[in-house]
Amino acid sequence: MATDNQRTVTLTDDSTGKSWKLNLTSGTMGPDVIDIRKLQADADMFTFDPGYTSTASCESKITFIDGDKGILLHRGYPIEELAEKSDFLEVAYLLQFGELPNPHQKAEWVGSITRHTMVHEQLIRFYSGFRRDAHPMAVMCGVVGALSAFYHDSLDIHDPRQREIASHRLIAKMPTLAAMAHKYAVGQPFMYPQNNLNYAENFLHMMFAVPAEAYKVNPVLSRAIDKIFILHADHEQNASTSTVRLASSSGANPFACMAAGIASLWGPAHGGANEAVLKMLMQIGSKDNIPDVVRRAKDKSSDFRLMGFGHRVYKNYDPRAKVMRQTCHEVLSELGHRNDPLLETAMELERVALQDDYFIEKKLYPNVDFYSGIVLRAMGIPMSMFTVLFALARTAGWVAHWQEQLADPHQKIGRPRQLYTGPTTRSFVPLDKRA
Ligand code: CMC
Repeated sequence: MATDNQRTVTLTDDSTGKSWKLNLTSGTMGPDVIDIRKLQADADMFTFDPGYTSTASCESKITFIDGDKGILLHRGYPIEELAEKSDFLEVAYLLQFGELPNPHQKAEWVGSITRHTMVHEQLIRFYSGFRRDAHPMAVMCGVVGALSAFYHDSLDIHDPRQREIASHRLIAKMPTLAAMAHKYAVGQPFMYPQNNLNYAENFLHMMFAVPAEAYKVNPVLSRAIDKIFILHADHEQNASTSTVRLASSSGANPFACMAAGIASLWGPAHGGANEAVLKMLMQIGSKDNIPDVVRRAKDKSSDFRLMGFGHRVYKNYDPRAKVMRQTCHEVLSELGHRNDPLLETAMELERVALQDDYFIEKKLYPNVDFYSGIVLRAMGIPMSMFTVLFALARTAGWVAHWQEQLADPHQKIGRPRQLYTGPTTRSFVPLDKRA
């Protein structure tokens, strides 16, 4: 970490007059950080920041977000350019290794991922332990964690080669595991991956093909899915990525860490929002109900929020949402759903909200999930699978952060402290003396 010792800030306790100098550290972009690592030892104080709104939890070179300007860069490359000109596996490589691959590196990487897509045959039986109506995210939490019981040769996190194998396995097997979760829910046979298909085509084939007949992947849809994967591949230190990092900081194995990330992603404030948006749009039903929905979203006495709106970091239009909006139009037009009533409701809702003082003042804009559910639904992907697709794509980011963290010499077990407001010391009261 580059430390500029000439720049400091001073923290003063106004009641005692004591003060402490704290170093300011600059990254290559973004706000400076105040280095408080020695604060507790020097001043016997903690900082208080629930939700980590003002805390840089680690140093990272992977992703940069400027929330005010609506900028998202992976290793310096704007997300719009990656979505337009790259493909998901190339972006996964970029996230993990820091540079775009040359043609030889790309062929090797894609070849390795393609050859690792099958899962251990015994893992197939693991699925039948779940109820058919289990949420696929519940299944994913279980089966991804269970990978650690199948791939013992890639659990040693101190061995770089094993880390590499685990990373390849995770990126390669997620589409297979995700499609299997769907097939299990609908009672159809699992489809094995096919090495002549690319990553997105393979996923669509495993999701929608049946052994009884040939299935041809629509290139517009496979390109759209690939774009959706790119848009969800990484997003800096979000809740699930931070969960992966925290789990990994104790030395937990990679598959267990990814299962922890999946669990965190499942929540409706995070990856579960795409499912929640679609449910909300269906409930709205007609455009006539939009004013009432917007009124409820602004009402402080109601828990209701406009799903797919707002973001912890973006205080401007989420750059991913712009690409997703475009993809949404492309897919619906390809499928002949140009007049999809849900899309019309979404566009009207967006128009109304963006003109409303509440949303303007709080800088609440559509996020990546606002349009993704409409695209996925039009492609025939069941709503319960939306967050699974997010998890599949985000695995690329989780793996990159996991690798970065393990290579960081400053890495320590994550151990936040607290502001304790519970009872002070008191003596134990025997049962017969308690009221
Ligand atoms: N509808 C109505 N009001 C909202 C919304 C919304 N969607 N989002 C935030 N607000 C209000 C909130 O009530 C608060 O008002 P006040 O200052 O009067 O108390 C203010 O805006 C700030 O909100 P916050 O909850 O303090 O902000 P946060 O950074 O903690 O939350 C968020 C960010 C994404 C959880 C939140 O905007 C939200 O719940 N959005 C809906 C769920 C959603 O779409 N999530 C997907 C996020 S993008 C995909 C991902 O990264 O996983």
